[in-house]
This record gives sequence, C-alpha cells and structure tokens, in this order.
Amino acid sequence: MSAADPIGLACALLRSGQLVAMPTETVYGLAANARDDAAVARIYALKGRPVGHPLIVHLADVAQVPAWAAEVPAVALRLAARFWPGPLTLILRRAAGVSDGVTGGQDTVGLRVPSHPVAQRLLRAFGDGIAAPSANRYGRVSPTTAAHVREEFGAQTPFLLEGGDCEVGLESTIVSLAGEPLLLRPGGIPQADLEQITGPLRRAAPGEGPRAPGTTVAHYAPATTLSLIATAALTAGLPTEVAVLARGPAPAGFGGRLWLDAGTDPQRYAHDLYANLRQLDRAGAGSILVESVPDTAAWDAIRDRLARAAAACAAEDLA
Ligand code: TXA
Ligand code: MG
Repeated sequence: MSAADPIGLACALLRSGQLVAMPTETVYGLAANARDDAAVARIYALKGRPVGHPLIVHLADVAQVPAWAAEVPAVALRLAARFWPGPLTLILRRAAGVSDGVTGGQDTVGLRVPSHPVAQRLLRAFGDGIAAPSANRYGRVSPTTAAHVREEFGAQTPFLLEGGDCEVGLESTIVSLAGEPLLLRPGGIPQADLEQITGPLRRAAPGEGPRAPGTTVAHYAPATTLSLIATAALTAGLPTEVAVLARGPAPAGFGGRLWLDAGTDPQRYAHDLYANLRQLDRAGAGSILVESVPDTAAWDAIRDRLARAAAACAAEDLA
C-alpha cells in the first residue's frame, strides 16, 4: 500500500478510525467507518455539525442492506433494483447493532449505493458501510470538485480521493420507507420515476420527519446574502454591487459584479449549481441574486436547494 494505491491507503485510514474525503456522483463525501462511533464523531467535529443528526451509510451493493436494515420491504428492493447504484437514499428500520453514532439515535438508518467508480472501488475494498455526509462545513454549499473540499477544510482536509467533477451535482433523493413512503429530500431522481414504483409519494412537510441538516429549511448557503428574483426583475437597472445567477445572458448595459448564465437545461444547471454559487460568493458582491427557476418537476431539487440557500441567508440576517 502506498500513494500509488490510493484506495488501499483510504481503506487503511478508515480501518484505523480516520476520515477520508471521497467522490460520489452527487457531491463529495466526508467518510468514516460507519461501525466506529469515534470515527463518526470526527466527522461531526470537522464539519462543525451539531451531533445527533443522522448520516447516510454508503454500501457497495444491495446485498449489504440486511447487515444494516431490520426490515427490507419489497418496495425498497424494487427501488434498489431500478436506481442503485445511483443518487437515491432509502431510510429503513435499522438492524440490531447499528449504533446511535450513525443514526443520530433514531430507529432508522439511511442507506445508499453510490455509482461513482471511485466510491464503488473504495466500498468494495472496505467491505462494509461507510458513513458520509457532504464534505463541507455545516450549513454551507456542498462540494462538487476535489478543489471545493480543500476550500472547505484547508490544512484540515483529510486524505482525499480525487474523482473529478460530480456528475449529478446535487445531493441524493431521500425516500423514507420506515412507514408510509415519504419523499424527505428531492434530488437527481424525478419524483415521477420513483412513483412508478412506490405509488403516490407524499412530500414531507417542513419539520416533519427526523431533525436532520439536509432537511432543515436554512441550509446550503453561500456567505454572501442570496435572494431569489423573478425573471422580469432582471433588468439592466440592477444595482452595481450584485452578482447574478441567471438562465440566460445578461441584458445590455448590465453593470453588476458578475453575471453567470447557467442555461436552461436542469441537469446541466444542477451539475454546475454549487460551483456557480462558490464563484458568485467570491465575486465580492454585496448580494447574490438568483433568477427563479421554472415551477416544473425537472427543477424540483434545484428549487429546493435555492429556497434553502435563500432561507439560510434570511435567517442569518435576523440573527
Ligand atoms: O448525495 C448525498 O446524499 C451525499 C453523498 C455524500 O452521498 N450525502 C449527503 O449527506 O448529502 P448529508 O449528511 O449532507 O445529508 C444526509 C441527509 C440528512 O440530512 C438526513 O436528512 C438524511 O440524510 N438522513 C440520513 N439518515 C437518516 C435517517 N435515519 N432518517 C432520516 N433522514 C436521514
Ligand atoms: Mg450536506
């Protein structure tokens, strides 16, 4: 094992209770051995995340699910067969022996089989569950490149497996199957595709379900105040101190700090979103304005993250 064998080194670090940053197809994760409470505690400490929030346990394949979940309903297996490996997290009743460290003391556990080839290699070599939240400081924008992870943690960055740009760019879709099927977090998988298997899926109301960071209203925020703005308000008359994320080119005469045209394709928009938010944050603008996105299903996950980013900024203004 050497630097020439990054997967072997990452495995050894995980086995000795250390953290590793790993790419997934959604965002980079801050990984620890999910069976090791002391290692899981290191995740919370490095992120600055309040303890007691549940983490997603990543698995190599569906065959490992019974080691973590007590009950595996047929609908879970059908979802797994269709969407794993991929950006879907299933909340199931936890198996005996799954610790409070990773579940935040709840009687459920979040499980996901990622498709990124580097994550897959690591999970196969490791052979058991790897707990990993997004590799960012608590409440901030998730990392979709290795450089973003280094930006978050600087000299404290753990051993990092390089995996290029994350293909999806937004966190996984989360479905709870611990009771009535519930959509806890929209993500890369369209709700309609899930519903072909689950039947009608109810969207969890704010505050419903477990208290968890990705589902609190205020989350995913850049440091600069961000607000949503209607398309019609994006005129050349905007203040000069703004940085704008739009779905088209700047109007003639735009005199603000920065205008990013993220285009009109939701997959591309999602892929670029967090990198764009970081760039807007660096523009030194007084505020970030984001053009509202269409009210259609294809934009659900993006609308969700933008609303949370705006809400987080509003909450900070109040604080
Ligand atoms: O795409 C993703 O899901 C990324 C990559 C790294 O896999 N991970 C991620 O983790 O977004 P994190 O910790 O930032 O968000 C995980 C969310 C929690 O906020 C919570 O909403 C949900 O997963 N979760 C995990 N376990 C749960 C449980 N037992 N019950 C309910 N929600 C749970
Ligand atoms: Mg996160």
